[in-house]
Amino acid sequence: MSLLEIAHLSRNFDGILAVDNISLTVEEGETISIIGPNGAGKTTLFNLVTGTDRPTHGEIRLDGRSLVGLSPDQFASRGMARTFQHGRVFGNLSVLDNVLIGAHTRRKRPHNLVAELLAALLPFPSVRTDEYRLRQDAEAIIALFGERLTPRLHQPASSLSYANRRRVELARALALHPRILLLDEPTAGMNPTETAEMLEFIRTLKQRGLTILLIEHKLALVMALSDRVVVMDNGQKIAEGSPEVIRTNPQVIEAYLGHKQHQRDVAAQSAQAQVPTEKPLSRLAVETS
Ligand SMILES: Nc1ncnc2c1ncn2[C@@H]1O[C@H](COP(=O)(O)OP(=O)(O)OP(=O)(O)O)[C@@H](O)[C@H]1O
Ligand SMILES: [Mg+2]
Repeated sequence: MSLLEIAHLSRNFDGILAVDNISLTVEEGETISIIGPNGAGKTTLFNLVTGTDRPTHGEIRLDGRSLVGLSPDQFASRGMARTFQHGRVFGNLSVLDNVLIGAHTRRKRPHNLVAELLAALLPFPSVRTDEYRLRQDAEAIIALFGERLTPRLHQPASSLSYANRRRVELARALALHPRILLLDEPTAGMNPTETAEMLEFIRTLKQRGLTILLIEHKLALVMALSDRVVVMDNGQKIAEGSPEVIRTNPQVIEAYLGHKQHQRDVAAQSAQAQVPTEKPLSRLAVETS
């Protein structure tokens, strides 16, 4: 049985099929990248697979158990953790508290409000031990980011650089100890040095056996990290295969790189610059890294 099974998943927004009959299986330990032009439906697919949104049709099974209809919290406690395309952290909370939020989602909680209040007012030794353990765990996860985050443990997230806020968000997702980590453009807005650092970080997670779904426009990163690549266009899966196979697939070049080329042409026209009409994928990958 596959770790994650997505079957005939669709999401219709008032006539727009943002996700159109997508099926995909993910095995334990795999890194799968989802690529495709803007508006292809990649983020919508992540929203469905993490419970942020509900499918119009289709199935999502983790370890053979259906997740459809559960709340985002329930998706998270079953082991689905994500980061968001535009980054989401609690600006007024410290780095540590942001990561502790992830850790608490995993914690076995008291079942009702009274019990929750009692636990807060009169912490029993087991609760205290639990809190201590969660904090140790959160600090250990933050330490994975070395000097980037460790000296900033008690600073509000709002005081951090953009790249560091994205690292905090990733740390929060990791604090869930997810079965599957979903990263939506984790290097968007990062400079080449930060991007290279993130690539190495994700590679380490992969080497530790974490299962990863990655949405990414930087093809050099996709090619370096992925066991498999899924290409989406207009809500549909138009190709799937190893990075080597995807790199040379004519449909992919047309749908993905065609759009990119179009965007470049528009930008170039407005700047009245000359742009070569054809570029090999390898060159594009280097340029976008
Ligand atoms: N909540 C929504 N209501 C209506 N339409 C939506 C909604 N969310 C997404 N869409 C539409 O669904 C389509 C897919 O959007 P999505 O954000 O999933 O694309 P994407 O592949 O993540 O694009 P990008 O690379 O720009 O992030 C788009 O046409 C978008 O406008
Ligand atoms: Mg998106």
